[in-house]
Amino acid sequence: MLSKTPPMGFNTWNTFGENINDRMIRETADAMAEKGLLAAGYKYLVIDDCWSERQRDPVTGKIVPDRIKFPNGMRAVSDYVHGKGLKFGMYSCAGTRTCANYPGSFDHEFLDAQTFAEYGADFLKYDFCNRPSTCNGPLLYKRISMALKASGREILLSACNWGSDEVQTWIRSVGAHMYRSTGDIFDNFVSYRDIFMSQIDKFPYSAPGCFNDIDMLTVGMYSKGNVSGDGQGCSDVEYKTEFALWCMFSVPLMLGCDLRAINDTTLKLVTNKNLIRIDQDEEGRPPFCCFKEHGGMSRIFVKVLSDNEFALLFLNLSDNRARSFLILEDMGIPVASGKGLQITDAFTGEDAGVIREYKEQWLEPHDCAVYLAKIV
Ligand code: GLA
Repeated sequence: MLSKTPPMGFNTWNTFGENINDRMIRETADAMAEKGLLAAGYKYLVIDDCWSERQRDPVTGKIVPDRIKFPNGMRAVSDYVHGKGLKFGMYSCAGTRTCANYPGSFDHEFLDAQTFAEYGADFLKYDFCNRPSTCNGPLLYKRISMALKASGREILLSACNWGSDEVQTWIRSVGAHMYRSTGDIFDNFVSYRDIFMSQIDKFPYSAPGCFNDIDMLTVGMYSKGNVSGDGQGCSDVEYKTEFALWCMFSVPLMLGCDLRAINDTTLKLVTNKNLIRIDQDEEGRPPFCCFKEHGGMSRIFVKVLSDNEFALLFLNLSDNRARSFLILEDMGIPVASGKGLQITDAFTGEDAGVIREYKEQWLEPHDCAVYLAKIV
């Protein structure tokens, strides 16, 4: 099964946009292997839009890799990536042209899937720009899914239709393994907060086999790169909260910062074993909410994990310092049971004691706390 747990890796779009090439892909593969990212679970290296020539080959009809960006062709890049123990990902689009106006796969789905298989691709992100009105969204994703299944290679399908057509209700049935449910992320707090909030009610559709993808992480970008938007970037506290949200809701962890230049704070955050364990829990359950105040900006979520464990997320998305209360009764542990919760700070690994009856937690603006918990 390709996506038993949320896929993890790196995608070029957030930082590099159209500035991709053979060399930066190889350097990124090196960084993933050497900095412990692959060992932490980040195995897919995905090349997003802008990798091909502007036109298909007039004779074969195939998409052709850009001769300047990828002078050795795509198979050579893929071989290098595989040589590092990583998996290789490509990008195309359901329309006639991609979002950045390169050839799309409409009416060439089977030929392109075959081409990606020849490259040795293990992953395909499939976008939704410039689609003809003659075909509806679900049919276009069925087509590429069937084409991949006919390609002779096992290729993970990462659908990217930004939540159109109530995607969460049908995308699993057509064979995709993850699905973008929102518009594009930008490297600032409001962008990821709004993306997250828009999906709170839809996460229950996400489960092993097919996960809700709320976009590539901006963690560690510090406003450098293609999706810097207003150039604000995020603070380390905000990146910590972004990562915690993705992990708590079993979202695919696709890194978007320049991994060749990743700093120690970011590396430590994205390789945190406890957070990754929460994201990758094999049961993939959606959390339930136990506290909601300040217009819904201050919340507590409880995620039931395997092995009789829980993850607790105390979240302050508001712009003010805020207090939240986890009342054990509200999560199904009445006082009369005589039970409490033994908690460990997920970020530091430190024992944080036992909660009896309730826990009060103060949080700075945009901050969060995450605990692993057991009933004792
Ligand atoms: C769309 C997608 C992005 C990225 C770009 C590439 O906007 O949502 O994630 O793939 O296209 O052009």
